[in-house]
Amino acid sequence: MKKYLIIGGDSFIGQSLFRYINQIENNISIDKTTRRSELLDKHTYFLNLSDPEVSIPDKDYDTVFFCAGITSIQECEDKRELAELCNYTNTIKLFHDIKKLQSRIIFPSTSLVFDGHQKSYNPTDQVNPQTRYGYLKARAEKMLQESEYSYSIIRCTKLLSSNQSVLHNWINALRSGSKITAFDDMLFSPVIGMEAIKYIYQLSQVKQNGIWHISAKDEISYYDAACYMAELLGVDKNRVIPEKTHNKPVVYNPEHTVLDMSDTLKALNIQHQKTARETLREFVLNFK
Ligand SMILES: NC(=O)c1ccc[n+]([C@@H]2O[C@H](COP(=O)([O-])OP(=O)(O)OC[C@H]3O[C@@H](n4cnc5c(N)ncnc54)[C@H](OP(=O)(O)O)[C@@H]3O)[C@@H](O)[C@H]2O)c1
Repeated sequence: MKKYLIIGGDSFIGQSLFRYINQIENNISIDKTTRRSELLDKHTYFLNLSDPEVSIPDKDYDTVFFCAGITSIQECEDKRELAELCNYTNTIKLFHDIKKLQSRIIFPSTSLVFDGHQKSYNPTDQVNPQTRYGYLKARAEKMLQESEYSYSIIRCTKLLSSNQSVLHNWINALRSGSKITAFDDMLFSPVIGMEAIKYIYQLSQVKQNGIWHISAKDEISYYDAACYMAELLGVDKNRVIPEKTHNKPVVYNPEHTVLDMSDTLKALNIQHQKTARETLREFVLNFK
């Protein structure tokens, strides 16, 4: 029987992986961790990354998906010590525990380990994070790479899910006749969340240490994305108002956001990598 552990079982990626693996695999056991005591049961363990004595269950897991952490870029800036403790110190403490169990670590990471000056980044390109969030991810990645772990680092760009608040709110606002504002000087390379989950799962089955990228083929500004979404919804594009990031408290606005996904496409035999517009189209058309 294959045994999985999902650290951060309540996260978007953790919850989605739990459902996905249960759908496609038989004869498995999936444990999760949570910091919500009301959710504890025989397969759901308490874990708070800010606890000095953080630990995982002592079981012979085949694979551990590491999905917990402070994921707000702003929060990592505002609560630097807490972010360091959760996203680095205790994260690597758990990496050691996972290694002792001889389990494989799957570590979702981010395009923000790069500075975004290049049009696209290969997995082996030099990291140069410009945010605390990206810096802590880059350090945790380095720790995995320099130690004797069995690991896959999977860097993702922006994943779109039905509870992805910005795009979700835009669609609802546009449908109800309201105006919205969107940055015309900030880019993103969106990927459909469930597609990324499938790739993360498939990459977790590739038993070869390394870094993998998941990204759209190109990038789009939030303003162009909102106009395109208005078009898809059949509403007037003039209801999308452009705005500049310098008028808002944005932590960092990378020039570019695309990750080169060639290695992932090859390893998983993916024939077509979606563009940002193809991704947005699918997101809007499937939005309930
Ligand atoms: N989603 C994306 O677009 C994206 C893109 C690139 C990389 N990633 C990376 O993928 C991983 C998962 O992302 P996600 O979007 O699925 O995350 P998410 O939905 O934002 O969830 C983060 C999870 O971390 C948990 N958490 C926060 N502080 C914690 C603490 N002190 N102790 C224990 N758990 C704590 C949260 O618990 P509560 O539920 O209790 O708050 C939550 O379940 C993250 O490492 C993220 O950096 C995600």
